[in-house]
Amino acid sequence: MSVHEQIAEAQAEAVASIEQSNDLESLTALEPSLFGKKSQLGSLKRLMGEVDADDRASVGEALNEAQRIIREAHGVAKERFLSATRRDQLEAERLDLTESLESSPQGHLHLVTQTMERLEDVFVGMGFTVSEGPQAETDWYNFEALNLPAAHPARSMFDTLYLDLGDRTEIGDGQGGEATNILLRTHTSPVQIRVMEMMPPPIYTVCPGRVFRRDTADASHMPVFHQIEGLVVDHGISLADLAGTLNEFTAAYFGGSIRSRLRPSYFPFTEPSAEFDITCVICEGDGCQTCQRTGWIELGGCGMVHPNVLTNCGIDSEEWTGFAFGFGIDRLAIMRYGIKDLRDMYTNDIRFLRQF
Ligand code: DAH
Repeated sequence: MSVHEQIAEAQAEAVASIEQSNDLESLTALEPSLFGKKSQLGSLKRLMGEVDADDRASVGEALNEAQRIIREAHGVAKERFLSATRRDQLEAERLDLTESLESSPQGHLHLVTQTMERLEDVFVGMGFTVSEGPQAETDWYNFEALNLPAAHPARSMFDTLYLDLGDRTEIGDGQGGEATNILLRTHTSPVQIRVMEMMPPPIYTVCPGRVFRRDTADASHMPVFHQIEGLVVDHGISLADLAGTLNEFTAAYFGGSIRSRLRPSYFPFTEPSAEFDITCVICEGDGCQTCQRTGWIELGGCGMVHPNVLTNCGIDSEEWTGFAFGFGIDRLAIMRYGIKDLRDMYTNDIRFLRQF
C-alpha cells in the first residue's frame, strides 16, 4: 500500500470512529487515537523521514489535509453533543408555573376600594393630587382647626369615638403644645388642615380615607365608613368654581346625563355652605323609589373654606380663597350597584363580594 493510500485509510477510519461515537464521553475517549502520537496519522508522520525527497511535499500536504478533515468531523460531533446536553439541562430546570396558578384562585379588590380608586382617577384626570392623613387624630385637626371650638353646638353632628390611652388620656399636640384628646377621625376634613399646613397654595387635592362614628350598624349606617374630601385654594376661587368642579366631576364619574346641584346648608368650616345633590343614577331624574320621587339624591357637603380655617393654617385669607367638599364613598357604591343593605359590604361573604 502506498503512503497516500495509508493516509486515506487512516483518515477514513478516524472519521468513521467519530461518527460511531454516540455521546460526549465516548468522543472524548477517542481523542488520543485521533490526535495523539500513537494515532495512525501520528505514526505516518514519523515515517516522513523515509519518504523519497521528491514525494515529501505531496505526502506532507496529504497528511495536513487528513488532519484537517478529522479535526473538522470531531468539532462538528462535539458541538452536536454539547448542544444536546444544554437542551437536556434547560428542559430539566424548566419551571412549570401553570400549576401554582391553577391551585390558587385569584381574588380582586373590594368594591369600596374599586370605587375609591375610580374616584381618585377622575380627580387626578382633572389635575388634583391625592393626599392622606392619619385615622387617629387630635381634637385640633378633627374639630378646632375646622372652626369647631369645644363648646360649638355643631360638634353634636359627629358622634365621636375617643381613644382610651390609659394613664395618658391627653397628649400635647394641640395648638402651641396644648394638651388634647385623641380620637378616631369623624370625617376626612382634618386632612384639609394637614395639607394646608404642609404646603403653600395653590392647592388642588382630594383626600380619600376611612372615618369612624359612634353609630349602630343598620342598613344605611356603619360605625366605620369611607369619605373623599376635596380642597382647592388659589387666587380668586369663587362659588362658581365649586359648582363647575362638582358638575364636571359628576359627568366624568357617572356619565353624561347625570348633573349636580347645590342647596344652601350649614357647616362650621365653610361659608357659605351647601349640600350637593346629583341626578338620581337609577331613574336619571324621572323619579323613583331610591330618590323618593324627587329625581335627585344627596351626595355630600361643600362650601367656600371659612376664613378662620385658612387663618388657622397660616394662610392669608385676604389673598387666598378656596372651596372644599366631602362625601361618602360606601353610599355611592351601594347606590350604583343597587345594594339594599350597607352591612352586606362588610360581612365578607365571598359569594356576595364575588359579584363586583
Ligand atoms: N365633613 C363633612 C361631614 O362629614 C362633609 C363636608 C361638608 C366636607 C362640607 C367638606 C365641606 O369639605 O366643605 O359631614
